[in-house]
Amino acid sequence: MWTVKAAAELLQQGDLVAFPTETVYGLGADACNARAVAKIYATKQRPSFNPLIAHCTDLAMAEKFGMFGLTAKKLAEHFWPGPLSLVVPLRPDSDIRELVTAGLDTIALRVPNHPIAQQLIAEFGGPLAAPSANLSGRLSPTQASHVRANFGEDLPILDGGPTRDGVESTILACLDNQLMLLRPGAVTAEQIEQVTGQQLTSHKIDEKAPLAPGMLLSHYAPNAKIRLEATSVEPGEALLAFGPDPIEGAAHVLNLSPTGDLIEAAANLFAHLHKLDATGATSIAVMNIPDHGLGIAINDRLSRAAAPRD
Ligand code: TXA
Ligand code: MG
Repeated sequence: MWTVKAAAELLQQGDLVAFPTETVYGLGADACNARAVAKIYATKQRPSFNPLIAHCTDLAMAEKFGMFGLTAKKLAEHFWPGPLSLVVPLRPDSDIRELVTAGLDTIALRVPNHPIAQQLIAEFGGPLAAPSANLSGRLSPTQASHVRANFGEDLPILDGGPTRDGVESTILACLDNQLMLLRPGAVTAEQIEQVTGQQLTSHKIDEKAPLAPGMLLSHYAPNAKIRLEATSVEPGEALLAFGPDPIEGAAHVLNLSPTGDLIEAAANLFAHLHKLDATGATSIAVMNIPDHGLGIAINDRLSRAAAPRD
């Protein structure tokens, strides 16, 4: 049996802990530690990087990471703690790792209404990135035994018994004075409209379909062209390297992992892309990344970034 205190220590070391919320069990990691967040994807065997929800103790903590307009604030004050995740602009100076938001400039924040989740986040002292604690493609877990069936005995789990709601939180984007329902959940559209007096538009997230550039949920796309499986660099190209033998000759080089560690590579992916893009290079050459384990999610993200766009 894990105590909240011991679990918080694991989180501080960059390890993962499963914990109950009022909706489903979450697989939590320090949202400000890129390696820890990368472990979430490795453990879930998720083939792509979806942005994650950052779980906070209260609005005051959430406001350190997201920017709340009047409506977002009203909703938070009314529904938090509770099963409503709010997508708001990310604070540019926040410590949230880019792997949490998948490189987006928005962030999903939520304050769970569950004593164990509350105690864990408070004891840890910062936001926890946490998707549902199941392997990719499996059902969301509503009791500790479901989590164990997915990940075995080695994953530390705080057991809070069966969850109250059993469906995931409602996800609502509050951007540009517009409210957009991204995922229906335990808080209903009617309840939200009642509190805000504003009508919702709805734009359901399709976890499988690639998101088109320009859409609200468009994933981060660099300005530079992305050239995959590079074995040489062309003049003016920046290089996103991987492994101990980076290609020589590029003016700007960042290595995802000099030792060839895929967890480290995932942890660095978005930050390195941003930095290379900021050099003004018109093209970023990317070395081959092995297509197994976390490499699958990395390659998925890179091939989306490389897809032609107008
Ligand atoms: O009830 C819940 O919300 C559970 C518990 C553990 O809190 N968590 C959960 O997380 O369902 P997950 O990772 O399974 O779903 C998060 C959803 C994803 O569909 C993701 O695309 C969306 O939130 N999301 C996260 N950040 C976003 C953002 N900045 N913009 C749009 N969608 C976002
Ligand atoms: Mg899920």
